[in-house]
Amino acid sequence: MLETNPGATRPRPSLGDAVRLAAWAYTPFQRLAARDLYGLLATRAFTANGLYLNLGYWKTARTIDEACEALATLVAEAAAMGPDDDVVDVGFGFADQDILWMERFAPRHITGLNVTPVQVRLARQRVQRRGLAEHITLIEGSATAMPLPDACCDIVTAVECAFHFHTREDFLAEAFRVLRPGGRLVLADVIRAAPEPDGWRQRVQDFNWNQFAQKFAVPAANADQRAPYTAKLRAAGFETVDVTPIGEHVFPGWHRALGHDRALFARLPLAGRLPYRLLLNFDARTVYGAFDYVLASARKPTQKGVLNGAA
Ligand SMILES: C[S@@+](CC[C@H](N)C(=O)[O-])C[C@H]1O[C@@H](n2cnc3c(N)ncnc32)[C@H](O)[C@@H]1O
Repeated sequence: MLETNPGATRPRPSLGDAVRLAAWAYTPFQRLAARDLYGLLATRAFTANGLYLNLGYWKTARTIDEACEALATLVAEAAAMGPDDDVVDVGFGFADQDILWMERFAPRHITGLNVTPVQVRLARQRVQRRGLAEHITLIEGSATAMPLPDACCDIVTAVECAFHFHTREDFLAEAFRVLRPGGRLVLADVIRAAPEPDGWRQRVQDFNWNQFAQKFAVPAANADQRAPYTAKLRAAGFETVDVTPIGEHVFPGWHRALGHDRALFARLPLAGRLPYRLLLNFDARTVYGAFDYVLASARKPTQKGVLNGAA
C-alpha cells in the first residue's frame, strides 16, 4: 500500500482534459495513442491507496487495492524475483509495482520504461519520496525500442500493458535482446479469447474486442489467441514458454467490484462511468468473453554451447 492520502497526489483533472476524454469516449472511431490516452487520464487510477491501473488478481483479494498488489506479486513470483536480479519493467504506470517489488523482493535494481511523460514524472517523485531512487531508475521510453544495452538484465516484466505495444512481437525481440542468457520474461497480458461456438456470442465477442482495440490503443497485430501468442514467444527465441489463463481470477472480480465498490466506480473518469454503468447490466462472461487474460512466462536459453565448450 503506498499513500494513505492519495488525494494529495491526485491533482484535479482539468476541464479541457475531461472534455477531450469525453470526445474520445463518445466519438465513434476516434483513436488515441497509448501515450496520449494515459496522458489524458493523468492521475485517474483504480486504487484508493496508490495509483495502480490494472484490473487486479482476485483469487483471494477482497478490495481493488489488494487485487492490484496481488497481480504485481503474482508476476514477481512467476519471475522468481530476488536479490541477484536486475529487472527491466515496461509499462510501469506510476511505479506502484516497482516500489512493491523493491520493498518485498529486493531485486538488485529495477529499470522502468514507460511512454507516458506525466506518469514517468510522478512515478519518479513517488520513488524519490519512498527513498528508493538509488534502486529504481525510471526512463521515458518504449518497450519496443528500449534505450538499454544488450544482455543487461535478468528479468523483463510487463504488467497489463503488452497489448498496447506496437507491436508485441517487436517488444518480445527487445526483451530477448536485453535479457542475459537464462533470463526470465513474465507478462500479465490481455489477448483474444477463442471464438464462442454460439453465433450471437461470437458477434458480441467481435464487437467487444474491436471496441477495446479501437479505444484502448491495441494494434491489429496484437489480436492473437493463445496458440499464436505462444508461438510468437517461441519464435522470438524463448524456451520453457508457459501461457496460463488466469481470467477467471481477474474479470469476474473486477466486474463485481465495479458493481459494489462505489468509491472505485467514482474513481473512473467521468466519461467512462456511463458505459460501465450499462455494462454492469450484463454478466462478466458477456462483457469480458472476448478476452483471455494470461500469465505468460518464458526463458532466454542459456549459452549451453559456450558453457560446455569452456568445461
Ligand atoms: C494499463 S496501464 C498498466 C500500468 C501498470 N503496469 C499497472 O499495472 O498499474 C498500461 C501502461 O503501459 C504504458 N505503455 C503503453 N505503451 C507503452 C510502450 N510502448 N512502452 C512502454 N510503456 C507503454 C502506459 O503508459 C501505461 O503506463
